[in-house]
Amino acid sequence: MSDDPVRDDPVSDDPVSDAPVPTDPRERLVASWDSNAAAWTDAVRQGRIASRDRATNAAVLAAVTRLRPGRVLDVGCGEGWLAHALEARGVSVVGFDASEALVRAAGSGPGTFVRLDYATFARDDDVIRGPFDVAVCNFSLLEAEIGGLLGALVARLGPAGRLVVQTLHPLTLGAERYADGWHEETFDGFGGAFAAPMPWYARTLASWSRVVGDAGLVFERLEEPRMDGASWPVSLLFTAARGPGAVGAEGPR
Ligand SMILES: C[S@@+](CC[C@H](N)C(=O)[O-])C[C@H]1O[C@@H](n2cnc3c(N)ncnc32)[C@H](O)[C@@H]1O
Repeated sequence: MSDDPVRDDPVSDDPVSDAPVPTDPRERLVASWDSNAAAWTDAVRQGRIASRDRATNAAVLAAVTRLRPGRVLDVGCGEGWLAHALEARGVSVVGFDASEALVRAAGSGPGTFVRLDYATFARDDDVIRGPFDVAVCNFSLLEAEIGGLLGALVARLGPAGRLVVQTLHPLTLGAERYADGWHEETFDGFGGAFAAPMPWYARTLASWSRVVGDAGLVFERLEEPRMDGASWPVSLLFTAARGPGAVGAEGPR
């Protein structure tokens, strides 16, 4: 089984950037999660994604809890494992996701869960009100255009709020295709349980740096979780804070 953007979420690495894409990849991406909701929920809850159990779950939990948040926004919460784990540690969590089936699955555990897509969240200040101490995106920033979402997340953070993002490590793309672009995840490692392939957008490190900076944030901490004994990181995990001079930025720390 391979690791997440899912390389944590098994990836077939076929780049599709050069091929004609039949329909809007963003729409297919969002729709795929409803089609695959049952298989995904089973894979996560049965511990079928090795990199999650052996590296990335603990890493993102540690990254969030070390900030000692009272209130967390779980962005693209999926079936809710992270929200449930944080609630078990006394943190109040609101999770949202475009997939109705995944939001329903998340509702089987503690936390508040809302069916909502990123575009609506970014457009409407009144849906899910802040302030949050942390907004966390665990393998859930999969689209090409994420600037609007990041801006809306920053607007919902308290003055000392942080954004925590875990994503596929850009190096995993390999030297020959180290570039931004759409790829397609076919979930081959799951023996046909997933009905729909998932388009997802890969970013280089410079590209991540650009979108974070454009949202008025600065990297505070960068981590590269890896499985025991592995020479290669399975993910890039970063914590970002408002940059100096940004509205709502903290004073000297
Ligand atoms: C790889 S899963 C990760 C789920 C969860 N964060 C976790 O750690 O298991 C990606 C999630 O992002 C959600 N997602 C992707 N694009 C979205 C969008 N535009 N609006 C809302 N949710 C979206 C999907 O529905 C899916 O649940």
